[in-house]
Amino acid sequence: MPADQHATSAEVGETTAGGAATADRASLTPAKDRALKALAGVEPVPGAPKPDPILVADGVTRRFGGLTAVEVAHIEVQRGSITALIGPNGAGKSTFFNLLTGFDRPDDGTWSFNGQSLAGVPSHKVARRGMVRTFQLTKALSRMTVMQNMLLGATGQKGEGFLSAIFPPLWRSQEKANTERAEELLARFKLDKKRDDFAGTMSGGQRKLLEMARALMVGPEMVMLDEPMAGVNPALTQSLLGHVKALREDGMTVLFVEHDMDMVRDISDWVIVMAQGKVIAEGPPHDIMANEAVIDAYLGGHHDAPLTEAEEQAQIAAGEAELRREDHT
Ligand SMILES: Nc1ncnc2c1ncn2[C@@H]1O[C@H](COP(=O)(O)OP(=O)(O)O)[C@@H](O)[C@H]1O
Ligand SMILES: [Mg+2]
Repeated sequence: MPADQHATSAEVGETTAGGAATADRASLTPAKDRALKALAGVEPVPGAPKPDPILVADGVTRRFGGLTAVEVAHIEVQRGSITALIGPNGAGKSTFFNLLTGFDRPDDGTWSFNGQSLAGVPSHKVARRGMVRTFQLTKALSRMTVMQNMLLGATGQKGEGFLSAIFPPLWRSQEKANTERAEELLARFKLDKKRDDFAGTMSGGQRKLLEMARALMVGPEMVMLDEPMAGVNPALTQSLLGHVKALREDGMTVLFVEHDMDMVRDISDWVIVMAQGKVIAEGPPHDIMANEAVIDAYLGGHHDAPLTEAEEQAQIAAGEAELRREDHT
């Protein structure tokens, strides 16, 4: 996506992220209107065909030993929409994200993005084709500065082995353009003052903003957000919501996993429900939320457990060990 489009989006981001009467204005944006009109005629059934799907997956299956974590028969995501993927812990949502974006390999299945098959395509190439997922800032990423995280985002890499990603010759010729783009995005997400801080020193909400900003470095057409609100201070939720809506205004497609039903109701155009690896329901947010059976059986108060102090320390130690190892190579 060209940089000039991002200038527009920054303004839209500001408009939707704060100020009076934003809720009304945001609910009437052209992009939301388009998405809702396109989805209005879609039958609310699992696997429903969409008028203009950017992503289509068939028979995607992932087993871990005896457990079938993902078994998605058919799914279509409407271009330019914000689609929520909901379901209880262990439903297979994160695994499905990993499969689609090339971070994990399925046992079976095919899927295409913009009409091109992505099965077997490695994650960094998936990102460069325009589909990117966010990652929690853990391990090595917390030990890098905000700017280093952004530059790494331009490679479409998750973070491990980042030094080898940063230094190939191709990178150097690109570095200036990437730095400029990173600065633009950091300003848009109000993280420009944090540029040289270690990512690990930031608040939960700021980390989420960085995760999103970092994913945008590849200029994606579709952004997949895994629990963008987890661990975020309520004061920052409106700002985050505004940024997600701004992605749609920019013409991007958003697929996000979230447990916070208020957020799902507020920003999604369409909801897909997963349970035990399968898609069990689909529909407009209000219909899905009104479906007591769906809510009770599948959604009641489940949350991904946040990292404990000990887990966080272990991840930082692992990241440090990795840094030391890479310094020697
Ligand atoms: N690498 C793995 N090895 C073994 N089991 C896994 C692995 N990743 C996920 N699982 C299992 O697959 C199921 C789906 O997990 P996940 O995709 O994380 O669910 P969700 O994101 O919906 O909470 C869970 O039962 C989980 O324990
Ligand atoms: Mg998950």
